[in-house]
Amino acid sequence: MSANTSFPPDFLWGVATSAYQIEGRRDLAGESIWDEFTRRPGAIEGGGTGARACESFDNPERDIAHLKELGVNTYRFSVGWSRIMPDGHTPNQAALDHYDRFVDRLGEEGITPLVTLNHWDMPEALMSLRGPFDTDEPGRQVAGAKPRPARGGWLSRDCVGAFAKHTEAVAGRLGDRVNTWVTQCEPWVVQLLGYQLGIHAPGIADLARSVVAGHHFMLGHGAAADVLHGLNPNAQVGTTPSLYPCYPATDTPEDRAAAWGSDGYVNRWFLDPQFGKGYPADMRAIWEAVLRRQSVPFALDDVILPGDEDAIAHRADFIGVNFYTRRVLAAVPTGPDGLPTDGRDFPWAVVGPQGDVSRNDDSWEVVPSALTDLLLRLHNDYNAPRLIITENGGLYGDGLTHDGRVHDNRRIAYLRTHLQAILDARAQGARVDGYMCWSLLDNFEWAMGYRPRFGLYHHDYATNTRTLKDSGIFYAEVTRTNKIPPTDPPITPYG
Ligand code: FCB
Repeated sequence: MSANTSFPPDFLWGVATSAYQIEGRRDLAGESIWDEFTRRPGAIEGGGTGARACESFDNPERDIAHLKELGVNTYRFSVGWSRIMPDGHTPNQAALDHYDRFVDRLGEEGITPLVTLNHWDMPEALMSLRGPFDTDEPGRQVAGAKPRPARGGWLSRDCVGAFAKHTEAVAGRLGDRVNTWVTQCEPWVVQLLGYQLGIHAPGIADLARSVVAGHHFMLGHGAAADVLHGLNPNAQVGTTPSLYPCYPATDTPEDRAAAWGSDGYVNRWFLDPQFGKGYPADMRAIWEAVLRRQSVPFALDDVILPGDEDAIAHRADFIGVNFYTRRVLAAVPTGPDGLPTDGRDFPWAVVGPQGDVSRNDDSWEVVPSALTDLLLRLHNDYNAPRLIITENGGLYGDGLTHDGRVHDNRRIAYLRTHLQAILDARAQGARVDGYMCWSLLDNFEWAMGYRPRFGLYHHDYATNTRTLKDSGIFYAEVTRTNKIPPTDPPITPYG
């Protein structure tokens, strides 16, 4: 068998979901920042909430049946933080019982759990935490809901301890059967959308303070990893950063510098400290300049305290790679402080790809070669012990057609090309151990509500019915053969 046509027999084949996006039954959970956020006028496209979602909480057996039909050996799901710690501090045994039973059921079916501790549904109670960086000022509104004042949640260092308590509760209950853990999901997205732009919960829009939230979020990873390794030194622990490879729009030194700068903001800021390199100096200088320009009463040294970088470093046993698309960047004019003079926040412009490129239904460029580049880069720059693709998938809105099926051939093409990209990276040495497709089923896509569909199963929200898409049939063939099938599932012609 040639190295670049098939996956090894022990490859982790899985799908990914998160609690708030699929579970529903928010009446049985504590208030989460997403419950609060979804009530705010304008926050969610179409006005959706997590109240019902895909009704997975009430019917976990249906999800398990899907996992079996897909033939996956791994399931990445998250435990609802606000469900387990309704008041932010005290574990709810009934919620732990639910996940306890679920993990048992996965075990009975021979499916390995890969558990995310924080996939964004933080208890709203933790928004009352306070810290020295708080302000009463509402942030600048970018889109959607009116921002709330920048205080609470990850802006407070006390959130780190609260997250460690949640981790203790979950690992104490599930740690005898769960070995692979994701502490924090997508630090950059939480920092950017949750605290800088206010378009995700908790809806804070404060550029300078977003770096505070991002740092505490990374300290949360360190603290949770210590809890997990303390309970089980062999536990496999990582984060799932949203990694966007950054490419220059042209080959000029200016555009190349812009791409490298953006890489510092999006990727290196969260990867370097995990791998013992500390926060990257170039991006540190940019953040310091941003804080000065914003005239906030603190500097980066007040936020990143002595010992903090050590508390984040060398705890990752794998990198969970969430990959959807890339960024293409161009230079912008800058002043003596290194910041742009044209009103932008950072010294680069996201210009996107030139020309007619393949795109998903939300115009994100489909660029599998960037995944190969990314995996090789993680292998080379971080000597990543293990790489697991923890999210990757296609946003395509195909619905049921004449034959009652969903012929989502664009999602199949997306999977086909991205799986090939992984084989290419493996052939060049990258240690990629697994692939978790986002997502098992269509679900609540955060601020975009229920419009975007990423699932291998179609979920009809009006009737709560599910349909296996052609991409699911294709993926089941992948998991069965460890190969990329040469042909797509057949379609019976209409008429
Ligand atoms: C990622 C999130 C995941 C889902 C996908 C499409 O940013 O982690 O919950 O929304 O994007």
